[in-house]
Amino acid sequence: MDNIVALAKRRGFIFQSSEIYGGFNGFFDYGPLGSELKKNIRDCWWNDMVRRRDDVVGLETSIIMHPKVWEASGHVAGFTDPLVDCKVSKQRYRADQLFFSAVVVEGQTVGYVSVLESERTAEELQEKAESFKRKKAVQGKLAPVIAKDMTEAQPDEIEKIPSPATGEPGSLTPPRAFNMMFETNVGAMRDASSVAYLRPETAQGMFVDFKNVVDTGRVKLPFGIAQIGKSFRNEITPRNFIFRSREFEQMEMEYFIAEDADWSKCHQDWIAWCKDWLLSIGLPESHLSLYAHPKEKLAFYSKGTVDIMFKYPFGVQELWGIAARGNYDLTQHATASGKPMEYFDEASKKKFVPHVIEPAVGVDRILLAVLCAGYAEEDVTDEKGNVEKRTVLRLSPRIAPVKVAVLPLLKNKELLVARARELHTKLKRKYAVFYDDGGAIGRRYRRQDEIGTPWCVTIDFDTIEKDGTFTLRERDSMQQKRITEAELFALLDEQVY
Ligand code: GAP
Repeated sequence: MDNIVALAKRRGFIFQSSEIYGGFNGFFDYGPLGSELKKNIRDCWWNDMVRRRDDVVGLETSIIMHPKVWEASGHVAGFTDPLVDCKVSKQRYRADQLFFSAVVVEGQTVGYVSVLESERTAEELQEKAESFKRKKAVQGKLAPVIAKDMTEAQPDEIEKIPSPATGEPGSLTPPRAFNMMFETNVGAMRDASSVAYLRPETAQGMFVDFKNVVDTGRVKLPFGIAQIGKSFRNEITPRNFIFRSREFEQMEMEYFIAEDADWSKCHQDWIAWCKDWLLSIGLPESHLSLYAHPKEKLAFYSKGTVDIMFKYPFGVQELWGIAARGNYDLTQHATASGKPMEYFDEASKKKFVPHVIEPAVGVDRILLAVLCAGYAEEDVTDEKGNVEKRTVLRLSPRIAPVKVAVLPLLKNKELLVARARELHTKLKRKYAVFYDDGGAIGRRYRRQDEIGTPWCVTIDFDTIEKDGTFTLRERDSMQQKRITEAELFALLDEQVY
């Protein structure tokens, strides 16, 4: 992970927000290559989800909506995470990420240990328990730790659990609900009546505008409304680079179906669609898995939620949630606004509030996944037999920030440069391309490998003096072959879509 973060910074994918002021926790900036990569992910999703389907339309709603939207949706009352404070260090923790265990020796609890959630939560607790026993010089057999998170702590345990910040007990508070919505004030008055929220999800825009789309969009059930946009959550512990941040981008789609439709089949179809889409942008199947939320943990209105999980270097984590939400949201807005949200079905002559299947994913999480899956360091042997390290980002041509690098073999040969410039200009009309004439050709290939450019073309003397072909060098295999300009455009047309 450290190497990926370093590469992201070094090559201008991702910077800390406000870095010159020491950064701002939970906020990030996308540099020249990162913004291209992000745009490509967004564009692929939009093209596949909206333009290439006949049953999904697009929408772009405002980030700040009427505060009543968030009352009706349940976010004002319930969009919370459990928070634990350390009164001494002033650190704050998400209770479900702070784990503890009793230290039990010969059946007696002799103290408590705590750690923050990680891939090694149980092992770390065990190590801490052993070290605790040694320090306190307690004799006897230590029982294996039982990891619990702070939401499971009994009232009498809380004051005995050490704070991860100080290592001492007595300073942690009991968990309390912390609302994650960012508040702001709209208008010149700053009082309770002017409070509004930055949206914590884009989804509510689709519900609130449902009637507008039905009345104007020539849509018939089943159909979807899709939106891409920024969402904001005051996460207690933003972490793992851009995985959990306070400002992020979502790509959400609400797929409305009849009340008596086979929601389970529709849910399964969307899970399959989302997984296929992730494969189409180059994520390896081996890193993807499905997690079905247990029935007892679902919200009362939810019929089922399945997450597509991704194997990040810091663990298997949620990438894409696909939820069957019944007709809860539309019903809530109908009740709160007094405006009906029913759909009239011409075929059955029935009026009903449609149900919805919601695939919701974060652009930043996909971007992190493609960086993690694509990053490799490998030993390669050059033509002189020297072994050297190369860092390569295996990004799909669909999303790679630069599709082709155009390299004149020598920068001081006018004819080579002129032909390279000409090709570069032609390619630029359709694709993100890069012109590089600095340094040895091998070094130029390496620079492109590191940013995920799938192909390099080199203009050499044969290009000028013989048949006009140039060398195409492929990033992953490092194979080279001669290719004509028409073949290059055909290759790009097929692979970049
Ligand atoms: N409308 C449903 C909804 O927003 P969610 O599971 O809270 O559901 C959907 O969010 C997706 O948004 C997640 O699967 C994840 O990809 C992304 N996401 C959520 N919180 C995020 C955060 N703090 N930072 C980055 N991405 C986040």
